[in-house]
Amino acid sequence: LTGRVSRNYAVVPMAPRHVLSAAAIERDATPSPWSETQIAAELAKPSALFFVLEEEGAVLGFGGIWLVGAEAQLAEMAVRRDRRRQGVGRALLDALLRRAKEDGARAMTLEVREGNAAARALYASAGFRETSRRPHFYEGRETAVLMGKNL
Ligand SMILES: CC(C)(COP(=O)(O)OP(=O)(O)OC[C@H]1O[C@@H](n2cnc3c(N)ncnc32)[C@H](O)[C@@H]1OP(=O)(O)O)[C@@H](O)C(=O)NCCC(=O)NCCS
Repeated sequence: LTGRVSRNYAVVPMAPRHVLSAAAIERDATPSPWSETQIAAELAKPSALFFVLEEEGAVLGFGGIWLVGAEAQLAEMAVRRDRRRQGVGRALLDALLRRAKEDGARAMTLEVREGNAAARALYASAGFRETSRRPHFYEGRETAVLMGKNL
């Protein structure tokens, strides 16, 4: 971690008490946000593994994967707008990559909007490489860039 998040942070498994904050971050982060109900449902899925980064009790961001056999798929990740570019996303992604590997995944895949420069830069800096594209994937318009990384 870069040290721009204070010392009093922790990456911990997402629990029901985090759902409201995660949904608020999500609403401010993407054109197609997951609702509180959807986030809560993710916590109940056996294949899902979600983490939050908390700083002094406040949720600064969250991220999750679905683990199916030897493949982990990045499900979602979002950081509070006023705390972006401080290493929160990277800390969450590192925790997810580590945990996926520990749980036996051999690779992680993800899909990201072509126009999402911040997320694409984060993933590229973490070693993800573009594998393919799906035109008109989001809202029938925006291209999805598929990326992958061996673990
Ligand atoms: C993508 C997102 C999660 C990144 O979180 P973050 O906490 O701001 O990212 P970090 O501070 O850990 O950045 C790590 C690296 O990613 C890259 N990066 C992150 N944001 C960037 C930006 N706006 N422009 C260029 N590079 C960026 C940089 O390489 C950065 O390292 P550096 O700051 O040392 O240069 C955040 O921008 C976000 O919540 N976006 C909206 C939701 C979203 O797009 N989620 C992904 C869906 S696929």
